[in-house]
Amino acid sequence: MTLPATPKICYGGDYNPEQWPQDVWTQDYRLFDAARIDTVTVGVFTWASTQPAPDVYDFTTLDAIVERAAAEGRAVCLATGTGAHPAWLARAHPEVTRTDFEGRRHRFGQRHNSCPSSPVFRRLSAELARRIAARYADNPAVIAWHVGNEYGGACYCELCTAGFRDWLRKKYRTLDRLNHAWCTTFWSHTFTDWGEIEAPSALTEHWRGPDHTAFQGITLDYLRFMSDAMLTNFVDEKAAIRESSPDTPVTTNFMGMYRPVDYHRWAAHLDFASWDNYPPDDRSAPRMALAHDLMRGLKGGQPFWLMEQTPSTTACRDVNPLKRPGINRLWSWQAVAHGADAVLYFQLRASRGASEKYHGAVVGHAGRSDTRVFGEVAQLGAELERLGGVSLGARTPARVALLFDWDSWWALEISDGPSRLVRYQQVVLAYHRALWDAGADVDVVPVTADLCRYDVVVAPALHMVKGDLARRLEAVAARGGSVVTTFLSGRVDEDDNAFLTDVPGPLAPLMGVRVDEWDAREADVVNPVLLECGDDRLEAASRLLFELVVPQGADVVGTYRADFYAGTPAVTRNTFGDGHGWYVAAGLEQDGVSWVMRQVLARHDLLGPYADVADLETAVRIAPDGTRLRFLLNHRADKVTVTACAGGVDLLTGERVEAGQPLALDPLGVVVLRETA
Ligand code: GLA
Ligand code: ZN
Repeated sequence: MTLPATPKICYGGDYNPEQWPQDVWTQDYRLFDAARIDTVTVGVFTWASTQPAPDVYDFTTLDAIVERAAAEGRAVCLATGTGAHPAWLARAHPEVTRTDFEGRRHRFGQRHNSCPSSPVFRRLSAELARRIAARYADNPAVIAWHVGNEYGGACYCELCTAGFRDWLRKKYRTLDRLNHAWCTTFWSHTFTDWGEIEAPSALTEHWRGPDHTAFQGITLDYLRFMSDAMLTNFVDEKAAIRESSPDTPVTTNFMGMYRPVDYHRWAAHLDFASWDNYPPDDRSAPRMALAHDLMRGLKGGQPFWLMEQTPSTTACRDVNPLKRPGINRLWSWQAVAHGADAVLYFQLRASRGASEKYHGAVVGHAGRSDTRVFGEVAQLGAELERLGGVSLGARTPARVALLFDWDSWWALEISDGPSRLVRYQQVVLAYHRALWDAGADVDVVPVTADLCRYDVVVAPALHMVKGDLARRLEAVAARGGSVVTTFLSGRVDEDDNAFLTDVPGPLAPLMGVRVDEWDAREADVVNPVLLECGDDRLEAASRLLFELVVPQGADVVGTYRADFYAGTPAVTRNTFGDGHGWYVAAGLEQDGVSWVMRQVLARHDLLGPYADVADLETAVRIAPDGTRLRFLLNHRADKVTVTACAGGVDLLTGERVEAGQPLALDPLGVVVLRETA
């Protein structure tokens, strides 16, 4: 099953009319008309009203909300409402609340607050989903099911500990295998009974926090277990929905690069991916591009829904900047350019009270349509209507893959040594950014993805190498492709134990290098790296991590300039079959990373047409009928004029663009070009 079938990009968002009287609903829908809002996500936090007591289900409110939306001709994304449990449930069954990392059993409060292993939570959340689906499955307005909300966090209670032991038993079968995987001879940890195993927390293996553990093996498995435990909650609810709704797609809203949940382990269970995009500032365009590409990669390149974004401000941060005029439009089109088939907001009307009363909304407390924010939302609504269905189902024709791996992320960041300053997301972001700057379309994919269709595969900080991945990367190079990896790659196996070989372990033959030593330094220590390829030279700073490379056949492309290892390799390129294995041993800053990636892209003729225009983003999507759309997004504060690389029609203005003619983009401007074949 795939995405909901819709005639155009869905436009709308989270709508919580249970918070205000029905005469306001009428006002809301007239405003939605004006903004061309066609989709509402409802019921995300209505458990307490739908089930006010253990044996009482009361659909009065939800009925009114869904019926009204349907009568108003809106499509409904209907939530199961299990992201926050009711107060009576916590009181009747204290086990439903979570126990935190410090071992404190929480009492009723907040949201995203249920223990994933609690039998009563599992039973009642599935029952609620079952009843909601049974009641509304036949309503044609309901086009998607939204299970829970932003799964995340962790629980360390007795039930989770017991669940962890079961999970371990299934995984290892024998304690011998578990002891071996966790390297328990170290510090006298050999387990002789499953019941001796505790959840790794501040009370057991950890100090200073969740990333400081004495045993990486147990902590890594607990991360995997917790992600799986929450997945079980999703799967329970989805199965309950399927009893009466066989054909309506099911999703849950992800959060982009969110560490606690391994979305790759979840992806197969969702019918389509959706995510909530809340960048921290207005300099986040490259980071959002990466997150969109990651979300699109969850379902093999199938489009996703942008389930939430703010039209103006968030409320949860210490300081919540306002999106500047034009930013909401630009970023919404960026999502579409990267594969979104829905553009939805949190929230359509602002809450009156509690922690999100200052969160931005399409409609503010005064219910006005003459605000700047409403005006921009309505303008975008009109543009999306003009676009119609042309981009629906369109795919990104990427020739470049970037491997993203939660296991590597976890293993790297819970490791003692070499450096706590090396952050997985930062390394990945630098490499993705280099590709983004160069105008290459990129699929961000799991390490298990089929790599056959890519010319270039980039694996930044691929700390853990699992299964046959090294062989599959070798195959990419052997047939003429380029594989790029970095420092701290190929270090550990899937149990987080070091390979008993030279670094970078199974990647060594492809990279043609050996690493015997590495140096980690404070952030203010710079080692300049001289990069040289033919006439192309750059001296770029590197920081944080410096591996000392002994080439085993690889050519030297960059050398350190300082310290006792000055003159030794910092970047190498190995010829492997008809292609290359690139090893970047130094923590190069962005300009160095970009230099390396441009060498690689140039070899495969993958530099985008506007690679030299900073902050002019391009992305291509190809629709199922072959229509080729090129998105141009000007993230700059000034107007930019380029030479059109292809002719076509700008679908936002209807104007013709001729190849070779000047094409001007306003500050924060967007062009959606339907290219002529
Ligand atoms: C998340 C939640 C929403 C809301 C927004 C606010 O995405 O899913 O319920 O709290 O954040 O930014
Ligand atoms: Zn628990």
